[in-house]
Order: sequence, then C-alpha cells, then structure tokens
Amino acid sequence: MTRTALLLVDDDDAFRTALGGELERRRFGVTLAASGEEALERLADSEPDVVLLDLRLPGMSGLDTLKAIRERHPATDVIVLTGHGSIDTAIESIRMGAFDYVSKPCPLDELDVRIQRALERQALRKRATLLERGLTPPDPGNSFIGDSDAFRNVLGLIDRVAPTDSAILITGQTGSGKEMAAKLIHARSLRRQRPFVVVECASLQESLLQSELFGHERGAFTGADRAKPGLFEVAHGGTIFLDEIGEVSLATQVKLLRVLDTSTFRRVGATSEIHVNVRVLAATNRDLDARVRQGLFREDLYYRLSTIRLPLPSLRERRADIDQLADHFVARLNERLGCAKRLGAGTRRVLQQHDWPGNVRELLHVIEAAVIVCDGVEVLPEHLPAAMRATSASAPGHETASVATLEAVERSHIDLALRTTAGHRGQAAKLLGISERNLYRKLREYDLGP
Ligand SMILES: Nc1ncnc2c1ncn2[C@@H]1O[C@H](COP(=O)(O)OP(=O)(O)OP(=O)(O)O)[C@@H](O)[C@H]1O
Ligand SMILES: [Mg+2]
Repeated sequence: MTRTALLLVDDDDAFRTALGGELERRRFGVTLAASGEEALERLADSEPDVVLLDLRLPGMSGLDTLKAIRERHPATDVIVLTGHGSIDTAIESIRMGAFDYVSKPCPLDELDVRIQRALERQALRKRATLLERGLTPPDPGNSFIGDSDAFRNVLGLIDRVAPTDSAILITGQTGSGKEMAAKLIHARSLRRQRPFVVVECASLQESLLQSELFGHERGAFTGADRAKPGLFEVAHGGTIFLDEIGEVSLATQVKLLRVLDTSTFRRVGATSEIHVNVRVLAATNRDLDARVRQGLFREDLYYRLSTIRLPLPSLRERRADIDQLADHFVARLNERLGCAKRLGAGTRRVLQQHDWPGNVRELLHVIEAAVIVCDGVEVLPEHLPAAMRATSASAPGHETASVATLEAVERSHIDLALRTTAGHRGQAAKLLGISERNLYRKLREYDLGP
C-alpha cells in the first residue's frame, strides 16, 4: 500500500520539523514547505493527498495559498492549521473550500483523525465519479431547498420552462438563489450534457467584457498575442448565464442584443461571423424596469431577455422555509466536519425573527459560523451574531437600515408609556404588561429617570 502523501506548510521552522517528524513516525510521507510560494512549487511536481496549511504565512497569505491550491489541485484536500482566537479565519477558510481546520498546537491524534476523514472522502469521491461518468450530472434540485407556497411556485415554473429554449430573466435580492435557479434550469433542460457558462458581468471591465463574451483574434488589441474564443463559443450547445446583467454598459447591450437576435457574432478584431446555438439566462438584483425608464438599459434587450420572468422571493417572504434551510445547512456541515450538531429551539426562534437582508446566503453564513463556534451538541442563540439577537423582525418590505434594535424599541416604548401616564410608574407598568419591579429595573438599565 502506498503511503499517504502530506504537504506541511508552516513558516515556523521548529514547529514544521517537529510535526513533520511526528507524522513521518506515523507512516505518512511528508514534504515540507515554509511559505505559500514554496507550497505551490512543491505541488507543481507532486500531488499530495492532503495539505496541512498554516494560515499565518509570510509573503503570499494563507488564504490566498488555499485559494490557489483549491483552483489548481481540486482533488487535494486542505486542512487548515489555525492559531488561537482566529475562528473568523477558520470560518473563512472553510467557506473557501478547506476540508477542515485544527487549532494549533494540533494534538496528533486529532490531526490523524481529520486526515483519515479526508482520505475516506477522497475514496468515496473517486468511486462516485466512476459511477457518474457518462451519465447525467446530478440534479441540483435536491439541494435547492424550500417548501413554502412561494418557493413551490418557483420550482413549478422552473420545471415548466426548463425544457424550452426561452430566455429567462431571474430576478431577486442578493443571496436569494438566482444562480442556483439558473443551474437547476440548465440541469433540467435538454442541454444538460452541454456546457453551463457563467458570465460575471459586473466584475469584468468594459473593454474586457466584449472580448470575454465574443473572443478576439490575434492582434485585435495590445496584449492579444493569440486568438481566444469567447464565452458564447464555449457555451455552444449549452446555456450561458449572464449574471448581474443590469451592470452591462449600453455599448455591450447593443452587441448582446445582436447575438440574441441572430445567434451570430464576431470576435473582436475579426471579419467573419460565428454562429452559435446558446440558451440565454440572465439575472439581476436591480430594478431593470427603472433602469429602462432612466435610459440605462435598452428596452428591446430587456424584452428579449425576459421572455419568461422568474422572480425569486426574498427569504423574509418565505419564512416558512427558514427552519428547513437551516437544518439542511447544519446537516451539510455535520457531514463535512464529522460532527452531529443540531439547532436549539431558542436559536430557531431568533432565526425566525431576523429580517435576512442577505437572504439564503446570509442564513448559510450565520449557520456556518454558529456551528463552528458552538462546541457542544446544541447550537444556542449565543452562537448567533450579537446584532442578530438584538434585532427585531420588521414588517415585510422594510429595509434593514431602518430596523431598530430591540433595546431601542423597548426604550422608546417605555418612554411612551411613561409619557402617556404622565410619569405614573404603576400605571405605566400595567400598560406595558410587566411588573412594577421589572419596570424599575428597565428604567435603570435604560437610564430613564432616577
Ligand atoms: N433554496 C436554496 N436552498 C439551498 N441553498 C440555497 C438556496 N438558495 C440559495 N442557496 C445558497 O445561498 C447562496 C446564495 O445563492 P445564489 O448564489 O444562488 O444567490 P444569488 O441570488 O445569485 O445572489 P447574488 O445576487 O448575491 O449573486 C449559495 O451558497 C446557495 O447555494
Ligand atoms: Mg449570483
């Protein structure tokens, strides 16, 4: 049996040598690196099974190193080593795809267990890819969670429109699941075996966007030393997803309209036309109607993109789904981290009350942080962000900026009761439905009166 290959990245010479030696004694094959740069070099000529990565590194940062490893060596798992009190970076690293984290000074048995777990998952993954090769990619529908009426409507519409070739405009607030919806539409379309290409319209510079979308010929502009196909070509036969379409300039809008109308385009700097067969999905969290009225978005393109509209409800418009979503995220983390945590009733209540301006993404992040911070089995309200515990739910449609903390609301409510009763505390307490003693306590707490 071949030895498990580890790459240990840590800039602390003494620690690196000591831990490396211990791991060797446990029959691991260990390669050492003192920096992120060195780690990437090592990775270029050997593919370790697991990387143990210290996050505090000189030069290239630990998180950047993690990102590079995830991009270039997706089959290699990374276990992050964190110092004391850096739970935030640990959470961030899990979010960026680290398999697990262990806090320093890592007890060897503990580390061993995590490494074994990574190896088990890799074995499982290898078997799974063998099974799936040549078959339909798994339907992401199982992880698109929700059972509320509003969400069922969305799922129903997706099922009806997915097999058609119509353009679909997906709208909804940030984090409401637009990209997931787009992926599901593609996965349930007849194009599912063909590419699904995402274009992040907002993050590309204007000059780059056109060459990204349509490609360019060699010498089309300075730096174009070779010809490159654009994303429309890459997506041929499949689906292109124009994310944050509201940010696209009027100049690019003209070009997009032309592709949509004629299915043909020219690479930047080219004379001949290219013909493609691509289904277009677009998403925005902007009010495109308003942008059309302001002259910032072409009306003809707007109509062309929105043959079908798929508006996603915000999370606060489907509070019935919060519990199920939260449980789903906890289960996923449990599986990933090998634990068995669950949400307490009090925690569920706080989640129910919150306003969720960041929608499902915010919920996901809150749950991740809570599960990681929680060291018992039950996730308690104290594991949730303090601001969230203090925030009351506002009426649907309210913007969060105007949501006062519970304290502030309570304080002004008590103040109102006192003014209504002309300062009579006994009556004020009755009005508020609390005992007089309780009222006194609150008055002291809020510094209202003597
Ligand atoms: N119904 C859902 N079930 C499970 N996970 C979801 C659901 N909706 C969204 N998510 C998760 O929430 C996160 C945000 O979703 P997504 O990226 O699709 O949102 P978005 O609307 O595209 O946001 P943005 O406008 O910020 O780009 C993702 O991690 C996604 O997996
Ligand atoms: Mg998105």
